Amino acid sequence: MIRYLTSGESHGQALTGIVEGMPAGLKLNSEDINKDLSRRQIGYGRGGRMKIEKDKAQILSGVRWGETLGSPICLQITNNDWNNWKEGMSAEKEHAKSIAAVTRPRPGHADLSGALKYRQYDIRNILERSSARETAMRVAVGAVCKKLLSAFQIKVISYVTCIGRIHAKDMPEGLDERFDAAENSDIRCPDSNAAVMMKKLIDEANAKGDTHGGIFEVVATGVPAGLGSHVHWDRRLDGKLAQSIMSIQAIKGIEIGDGFAMGIKPGSEVMDEIFHSKETNFYRNTNHAGGIEGGITNGMPILLRAAMKPIPSLKKPLQSVDIISKEEFEAAYERSDVCAVPAAAVTAEAMSAIVIANALLEKFGGDNISETMDNFCRYKQGLDSF
Ligand SMILES: Cc1cc2nc3c(=O)[nH]c(=O)nc-3n(C[C@H](O)[C@H](O)[C@H](O)COP(=O)(O)O)c2cc1C
Repeated sequence: MIRYLTSGESHGQALTGIVEGMPAGLKLNSEDINKDLSRRQIGYGRGGRMKIEKDKAQILSGVRWGETLGSPICLQITNNDWNNWKEGMSAEKEHAKSIAAVTRPRPGHADLSGALKYRQYDIRNILERSSARETAMRVAVGAVCKKLLSAFQIKVISYVTCIGRIHAKDMPEGLDERFDAAENSDIRCPDSNAAVMMKKLIDEANAKGDTHGGIFEVVATGVPAGLGSHVHWDRRLDGKLAQSIMSIQAIKGIEIGDGFAMGIKPGSEVMDEIFHSKETNFYRNTNHAGGIEGGITNGMPILLRAAMKPIPSLKKPLQSVDIISKEEFEAAYERSDVCAVPAAAVTAEAMSAIVIANALLEKFGGDNISETMDNFCRYKQGLDSF
């Protein structure tokens, strides 16, 4: 089982993560992680912060000479912006009050609810950790899990299907082609015409001081039937994936397969009928279920769809109340993204990869990757002869 923890404030010294439970013998280097970190940083609509940070992960433990040791893997990403915050975010008491307290909660953020819950009169003590800067470390941990999955030919990809009112309509049918098109698009949208309109919409919002959200899909291919379980609520893979994606800042909806559309169609239109042939064994011609039935993978690609709300920090002022003076004011604007749906999609890939890697190790175990592989291959033979 993989366990992981992350720590770090948005303008603190660094983000750190510890991944425990990765088998020994997995080939891993920092480039495997940095590739995904830069995929998270690009994306049309992102703000000034991403121009300051060029995220790179350092592997501090758990890997020797390009292979995992089975010991905890410690990762660190330094915040370049720390140079401007050394006193303001210092751990030392001597720097207390070196910058003014933040007392004006921004609507749509954890600012007010966090200040009330943790009894903080400087909202910076909340916003530094609630910021989505934290997702950089989730992406790093996810990249380690993706490396494990790739040894089993499992791939996790994402693409954007909607920004604001603009929907992708003409996407390549094949998942590989769709993914390649997304990788070559700075808004991660595989429909090039829609991508142009999405970017125009973001530019218009930016000019008006507004922001946009959107919808993206995450697909995992090569996942064998049999991960997750129907036997208890907290072992269902659909539930675990939904929680992991809903935990990403600003994600407000998640669907698996046809999701909400299933609620308005008759049963005859949304079940994936089962067929059999000697060559392919059991197979389906459709994937309305999104690869999961009864909380267990069924061998079809896992398909998740998530909705992200618009970025809550607006140049256009929003009404709020100062937590000290109780006076009404219009929320002050700080440098911010106009749209971060492509980055959220990459983060959701990472979160899905962590859950699927965990389910894989739960089923196949192994302290060394070759042991995990032996168990995996034996199980696959069993599936083929079922
Ligand atoms: C990758 C990513 C980047 C984000 N960038 C910003 C940003 O620049 N400004 C902002 O106000 N919110 C941004 N958000 C959204 C906020 O972090 C989020 O709305 C806020 O923490 C409140 O959480 P909630 O929306 O889940 O309630 C971003 C979210 C993600 C996933």
